Amino acid sequence: MYQWQIRLRRICNRDIIWYKVQIMAAEKAKKFQQEGNQREVGAFAKNYGAHREGITMKEVANYYTEWANSNKYDVDLGPDRYRGPKLAAETLCDLISEHRESVRILDIASGTGFLGQELWDRGFRSIDGLDPSEGMIEASRKRNVYSNLICDFMTEKMLNIQTDTYDAAAIAGGMGEGHIPCNALYEMIRIVKPGGYIVIVMREEYLEHVQDYKDRLEPLMKELETSGKWRKLARKVVSNYFLQNNGVIFIFQNC
Ligand SMILES: C[S@@+](CC[C@H](N)C(=O)[O-])C[C@H]1O[C@@H](n2cnc3c(N)ncnc32)[C@H](O)[C@@H]1O
Repeated sequence: MYQWQIRLRRICNRDIIWYKVQIMAAEKAKKFQQEGNQREVGAFAKNYGAHREGITMKEVANYYTEWANSNKYDVDLGPDRYRGPKLAAETLCDLISEHRESVRILDIASGTGFLGQELWDRGFRSIDGLDPSEGMIEASRKRNVYSNLICDFMTEKMLNIQTDTYDAAAIAGGMGEGHIPCNALYEMIRIVKPGGYIVIVMREEYLEHVQDYKDRLEPLMKELETSGKWRKLARKVVSNYFLQNNGVIFIFQNC
């Protein structure tokens, strides 16, 4: 097969996948429509596309790049619909009240930089971002709030980051189907200093709906506490995290 044929096939496959995603998302969004929440249907469908069952990590990253390049992400998941970045920033503020300008923070799954911006607005000045989607990274760069931007996946694989680098790491909305896997907890613990904080803000229902997390994520969190890697400081359920969906905030401190 010629190179151009291979390329054409790839483009066709990508379009077919995209089309299927739209159909699945529309199906899910129907529920919202029936409930009369017309305005939210688009945002819900778009978000669903990134979390559809069976999506691979690479597809997730590409999906977010398309979303960022369409300049719609910040509207679809803006603060009136999605409170993840604000909740994560407020949590970090409660934990860290002094020397905010020099405290080193890693925003994991930094996206277009909502959390980085929230942290900057609260006086933090040493913020790095990590995200596997080139489009999201480029969008976040424009905010000028990150010292370093790392385009990579957070998984169990060792990142090019030294052990005990950060005073805190936070995830807002980076957990989900095909997103950050359970086993990435080990790597988060490695790059955060002893005594440093790890904050995870996510949709509550993903604890049940995402196969990788169901009966695994919270037991693993517990296991890491039992084995002396970290200490759980809080687990809070919050309402209206994304539209009418609950969120959950986990706060850990490294041992
Ligand atoms: C819903 S967005 C949240 C972005 C941002 N934190 C916010 O709150 O607006 C999810 C982000 O997770 C990123 N992501 C997905 N899988 C990831 C992984 N394995 N490691 C790090 N980031 C990931 C996506 O690229 C996307 O930018």
